[in-house]
Amino acid sequence: MKLVEVRHPLIQHKLGLMRRAGISTKEFRELASEVAALLTYEATKDLETVDKHIDGWAGPLTVHQIKGKKITIVPILRAGLGMLPGVLDLIPAAKVSVVGLQRDEETLQPIAYYEKLTGRMDERIALIVDPMLATAGTLVATVDMLKAAGCKRIKGLFLVAAPEGLKRIEQAHPDIEIYTAAIDDHLNEHGYILPGLGDAGDKIFGTK
Ligand code: URA
Repeated sequence: MKLVEVRHPLIQHKLGLMRRAGISTKEFRELASEVAALLTYEATKDLETVDKHIDGWAGPLTVHQIKGKKITIVPILRAGLGMLPGVLDLIPAAKVSVVGLQRDEETLQPIAYYEKLTGRMDERIALIVDPMLATAGTLVATVDMLKAAGCKRIKGLFLVAAPEGLKRIEQAHPDIEIYTAAIDDHLNEHGYILPGLGDAGDKIFGTK
């Protein structure tokens, strides 16, 4: 599995601000989006380009254009929506495929209650966005879903990842590429990442 902990000073600074107790919804939301944009910059570094011949202001010119179908961003409901604006800032023409999963009370397995994927998934790179990679149960199910739709290249963008979740996703889907702003210490008994950010969904949406 390709795993990149993006240790850029801007990312580290912004993530440090997000870890403060008592941070406002406004500030947390803004920072989540800003860090998402910086992760997107890193995660798109290896996109292929093709030459395009254009009429430039001073005559014919060859420029570079991203090859292939438009990327699809895959926010996982609900907290993934908090990273969407930052990713769209950098890839404004991306298609957005929203997924929602919840745990089945009997099997404890995540099952999809919402899945609205864009077309031609087999020709697109998917960028999954979710602030916290904790147990990876939801991530594994999302990747299963994307692969079932034909997706061949999948990257995941996270603000914070736990070692336990990274191990699990590597076992289930070793071909995924993970970009995270931090790899933290461990999960507590309630499945929260420590030191982590707390409940990212609540902090993005101002709920509790
Ligand atoms: N989801 C969160 O919002 N926070 C965690 O620490 C783990 C999962």
